[in-house]
Amino acid sequence: MTELDLIQSPSTLRALIDRTEALLFPMASEPKTGALLRALAASKPRAQLLELGTGTGIATAWLLDGMDAASTLTTVDTDPEVQQVARDVLGPDSRVHFVLEDALAFLRRQPAATFELVFADALPGKYEGLDDALSVVRPGGFYVIDDLLPQPNWPEGHAAKVPVLLQRLAADPTLTIIPQAWASGIVIAVKRGR
Ligand SMILES: C[S@@+](CC[C@H](N)C(=O)[O-])C[C@H]1O[C@@H](n2cnc3c(N)ncnc32)[C@H](O)[C@@H]1O
Repeated sequence: MTELDLIQSPSTLRALIDRTEALLFPMASEPKTGALLRALAASKPRAQLLELGTGTGIATAWLLDGMDAASTLTTVDTDPEVQQVARDVLGPDSRVHFVLEDALAFLRRQPAATFELVFADALPGKYEGLDDALSVVRPGGFYVIDDLLPQPNWPEGHAAKVPVLLQRLAADPTLTIIPQAWASGIVIAVKRGR
């Protein structure tokens, strides 16, 4: 089985990739990550979804492709130049809301248990403010992170932080986790019901 031969990309992806490459933005999600996110989004009808770290909107496009018409996606980034790519290409889709703000500041304004899916793809909400990110996930909802296998663009000292994060998630009694050696290395954490 060749996984990607079986996966159709969102129609918006080509335009996003062209502009991502033109900007030399090096942190875009890969197709396997996108396909997984799309499937998770499709499992949650009438849902509110959150992405921390829009980048140029690659994962945003995959999430939107899985969501039903009644779902909404909020995506947050601090970099106006990269987020503008996503706004230009995906902005016509009324289900997506772009926020230009620090992810932690955004998280701390959200009521608990707001989102059915959180894709935490920036350092805040993952390596800092983990509790803030987990608190906004609804029972039964997904908290998803990637880049857990060694990546060439990891900064000095980052490698030591990854097992600490994984152990924290594994030890959290409010979660059940699925670590996957898929794409850049993914964990899907499901918030347990009360
Ligand atoms: C890994 S990239 C996101 C990639 C994108 N989700 C995708 O699928 O292609 C991380 C993003 O986090 C953003 N970022 C960095 N610090 C941030 C912060 N404090 N709050 C929100 N976003 C931040 C960066 O500007 C960058 O666009």
